[in-house]
Amino acid sequence: MTTNKMWGGRFARGPAGIMEQINVSIDFDRRLYAQDIAASKVHARMLASRGIIAQSDAEAINNGLDQIKAEIEHGTFTFSRALEDIHMNVEARLRELIGDAAGRLHTARSRNDQVATDFRLWIRDEIDSLDAGLKAFQRALVAKAATHAATVMPGFTHLQTAQPVTFGHHLLAYVEMAGRDRARFAGARRTVNESSLGSAALAGTSFPIDREQTARELGFAGAMRNSLDGVSSRDFALEFLSACAIMATHLSRLAEEIVLWSSPAFRFIRLSDAFSTGSSIMPQKRNPDAAELVRAKCARITGDLVTLLGVMKGLPLAYAKDMQEDKQAVFDAADSSALSLAAMTGMIEDLQADEAAMRSAAGDGFSTATDIADWIVRVLKKPFREAHHLTGQIVAIAEERNCRLEDLSLGELQSVEPGITADIQSVLTLDASVASRTSFGGTAPENVKKQVHYWQEQLK
Ligand code: ARG
Repeated sequence: MTTNKMWGGRFARGPAGIMEQINVSIDFDRRLYAQDIAASKVHARMLASRGIIAQSDAEAINNGLDQIKAEIEHGTFTFSRALEDIHMNVEARLRELIGDAAGRLHTARSRNDQVATDFRLWIRDEIDSLDAGLKAFQRALVAKAATHAATVMPGFTHLQTAQPVTFGHHLLAYVEMAGRDRARFAGARRTVNESSLGSAALAGTSFPIDREQTARELGFAGAMRNSLDGVSSRDFALEFLSACAIMATHLSRLAEEIVLWSSPAFRFIRLSDAFSTGSSIMPQKRNPDAAELVRAKCARITGDLVTLLGVMKGLPLAYAKDMQEDKQAVFDAADSSALSLAAMTGMIEDLQADEAAMRSAAGDGFSTATDIADWIVRVLKKPFREAHHLTGQIVAIAEERNCRLEDLSLGELQSVEPGITADIQSVLTLDASVASRTSFGGTAPENVKKQVHYWQEQLK
């Protein structure tokens, strides 16, 4: 067993097999290759501009790194588990390509600031792509909401029919949530967008480096002010994970609604063939597997957040190898988030609403009872509490007769409250009910149309 070429100077023999197995991260951190190479190029350029390494060495390093990037992208690069991680795999290959100059790249740097920098760059890219995914998701919802601004459906509390709402209004609720998800990712992006490069192992370096230069060239807002913080904080990753977990929680709620709505017991929507699966035994089945998986992925993503919170809790400063475990959690959450978003966007784009089934369900459960109470308050000037009580008696009659509220005769209504006139019929229909909810943020079709317009402008 040979000793590790990168750090094995004082070791007489190499690591035990099991040591290598527990230590190795190349199987997953190879995903950081592009960021690792970009940061190394910037570092080498800075070292040369500060006279810390020769210009010719910096050029050789730069060209060698370009070649390594091409090799990785063409699949011709041989990753070695003995070289532990992406940083040492790249550097070892650089030595093969350009010789001793490769050894100068690691001047005034450590894998500790290197990995933190790479990881920040990776998460920053991922945030930008998740933001684009969220925007596409919002657009799909807004387009459906525009079609269904006046489509009546039951609104629920406790999953019991409460009051009629419009389907467009319901969909726009998720557009709002997605908007706040995007704001959370934007916040995480600000936290992530600082450079730890030049923190070195933990204490900074005696070389006259220019941390602002490397920060600027990597597109960071600036260099982190404290080297210990630079190498040992992972709150940027936690913030990213929590934004993912909250977003996934929103997606899981919509996923659950899709599962319910597409069930024959509801029949509110029909998913497209492209987003349904069949059963191998029951030919009539159309299963909403994608929605179910989005519902479940939320658990994984939340678990990823809890994993890293657990890893970081109680860790003394500065770097500890525990932090190597940050990557799988973040990669898994990022992949699961992107996939969930894409699947939800596809489902929303394709789904067909069954307006008749929604309307029929909206009329169940005496959903316009509040409208009767409001009419009694407005026209007969009764206090709401008394109107509520009277309406309860009206509902009891309808329940007794097993009919809908709009099917009650004027005589039946007047048997409860003699002051009621035929005018009350005008508020008993579903359309009148939703149309009357014009308060800001309410479900009236005219409001929904305005909100659709607002979002269309926002999402241009
Ligand atoms: N692969 C390591 C990680 O992901 C890189 C940093 C290693 N640093 C060290 N001092 N062993 O955290």
